Amino acid sequence: MLAEVAGALRSAGQVAVLTGAGVSAESGIPTFRDTMTGLWADYRPEDLATPRGFRRNPDLVWSWYRMRRLAVADARPNAGHQALAAMERLVPGFTLITQNVDGLHARAGSRDVVELHGNIGRVKCFACNRVAETFEDTDAVPRCRACGGMLRPDVVWFGELLPPRALERAQQAAAGCDVVLSIGTSNVVEPAASLPWIAARRGALVVVINMTDEGQQTGDRIRHLMGPSGEILPRLVAAAWPEPPSV
Ligand code: OAD
Repeated sequence: MLAEVAGALRSAGQVAVLTGAGVSAESGIPTFRDTMTGLWADYRPEDLATPRGFRRNPDLVWSWYRMRRLAVADARPNAGHQALAAMERLVPGFTLITQNVDGLHARAGSRDVVELHGNIGRVKCFACNRVAETFEDTDAVPRCRACGGMLRPDVVWFGELLPPRALERAQQAAAGCDVVLSIGTSNVVEPAASLPWIAARRGALVVVINMTDEGQQTGDRIRHLMGPSGEILPRLVAAAWPEPPSV
């Protein structure tokens, strides 16, 4: 199965990749739902990652994201992130789309990342929407220098629209690819969850890389590679490009 997928990648002109929290799991970043362990066991992500939750308790929401931001700062990209950065240089038309907000793809060397859900390292004003170039990363919710409003993480919250340009790029890549890799995502949150099926409808090969195939769709153009993405992706790149061209 891995050899078949490697062959398809090698001969593909256009490849789209959609990643989720599972790609960062081996970097020690809890997957989205696991984040609700320990200190946060009493809250649902939907209570924290929403405008309503932020209005109701800005300090709590700010602290939750600050905890995640500090954890991300200590994390390192893993071999899966690095394999995708290598693949970007080996495939003629390659689009990396991520639901993750941890910035680890860019830190692994991926040069063009479509961040569907924003980036936890950036903050913007809850009132005027300006992105803050710098901010005091303290326990207290910092204020916007332009209007005095509260700053919030520049990530997509439940009920909010995705950045239109990022979503358009992602949908175009899915519609035009020969192969789509759906990696480390439970594929439940729209509109990201539909991207592999946009590709499948156009005849692309869909490859799901996950620890489990539970809840994942099946079909004659769908391949499941089960296991940690940090192990599977380097093997896939080595099989597809045994002697990568000297760059
Ligand atoms: P989830 O936590 O829903 O799913 C993580 C997926 O990764 C699961 O399918 C796991 O089986 C899989 N997984 C875990 N470890 C893995 C590993 N080492 N290798 C491969 N797969 C692994 O996270 P997402 O699917 O990314 O949205 O969640 C999607 C969105 O839901 C998030 O972006 C967030 C959340 O609501 C927003 O915040 C808007």
